[in-house]
Amino acid sequence: MSRAIIAGTGSALPDRVLTNRDLERMVETSDEWITSRTGINTRRISGAGEGTSRLAAAAGRKALAMAGVDPGELDMIVVGTITPDMTMPSCACLVQKELKAVRAFAFDLNAACSGFLYALDLADKYIRSDPSLKILVIGAETLSSRVDWQDRNTCVLFGDGAGACLVTGGAGERGYLAGKLMADGSLWELLHLEAAPGHNRDLRPNHDSSPSIRMQGREVFRHAVRAMEDAVTRVLNATGVKAESLRLVIPHQANIRIIKSLAEHLGLPPEKVYVNVDKYGNTSAATIPIALDEANRAGLLAPDDLVMFCAFGGGFTWGASLLKW
Ligand code: ACO
Repeated sequence: MSRAIIAGTGSALPDRVLTNRDLERMVETSDEWITSRTGINTRRISGAGEGTSRLAAAAGRKALAMAGVDPGELDMIVVGTITPDMTMPSCACLVQKELKAVRAFAFDLNAACSGFLYALDLADKYIRSDPSLKILVIGAETLSSRVDWQDRNTCVLFGDGAGACLVTGGAGERGYLAGKLMADGSLWELLHLEAAPGHNRDLRPNHDSSPSIRMQGREVFRHAVRAMEDAVTRVLNATGVKAESLRLVIPHQANIRIIKSLAEHLGLPPEKVYVNVDKYGNTSAATIPIALDEANRAGLLAPDDLVMFCAFGGGFTWGASLLKW
């Protein structure tokens, strides 16, 4: 049976760096508070010409180059995002245009911070039905556009960026071994971003015309650790793989304390858990593919290494997936 393999990775980040010191001048906060509570030192913020689709296309181009695949060979583009440039067309269609991927069909997928995981799992299902397919799986966000820059509870946490993988069919035992995706919509209020109400005010009469991310941080924290641990454990049990056999775990990068707590619960040493939340903050669906690209380009992954991804986000949505590199 052929499974999805990742033949190339890429990432793209805006040029502008926003430091904790910069934030001290914008809201009542401190470098000490942000660093100790979140582990975040800097994040990237998009400027003109660095919208979600541009970042997504730039990351995609690098993944294609690494895989030696021409954009014209692509069959499908899926972008995990909650911050597309437009509601219609999708970010994926704009990427298709930008890359001139004329044969590819394209669509977005909204699973918040779990968007890349959901998209990768979907790509694997397509590959299992046709291993010759070439699929660009992207996580891309410009959360700076949907953060309330006066709300210190959220504005210090998020950043912009994109990561991409070129996925195709592999031979033998390598590739996507298993995934577990979950959701619980009953908890939506704990972390949400309303759509703009548009022209029919009767639908939501009391809401902002330009809504921002709202979050009950402590509750989200508690659920995130438990949910990701559960998803990883289910995938390990389903595959018979022991946690100590994992070469690398790439968790969603939201908060260093969530990541450390997860590692502790799973009994993983710090060197097996990839962290870059200090540099980029929480880029939602983009955190895992950006981190994967960094790890890959740094030579941290060798053929047959076992790599686990896990994520948690608004919805709630969460999950884990295991690959043999
Ligand atoms: N600077 C200074 N003080 C702040 C800031 C800030 N930026 N933000 C909040 N505070 C204050 C609060 O107002 C509160 O003050 P009070 O006690 O006077 O009311 C105090 O700090 C403590 O607030 P808590 O919310 O209890 O702080 P906590 O230790 O829980 O840390 C944090 C807050 C960082 C948001 C944490 O709860 C967290 O990381 N939660 C998960 C958030 C997350 O990861 N969300 C995204 C996951 S899903 C996704 O990626 C979309």
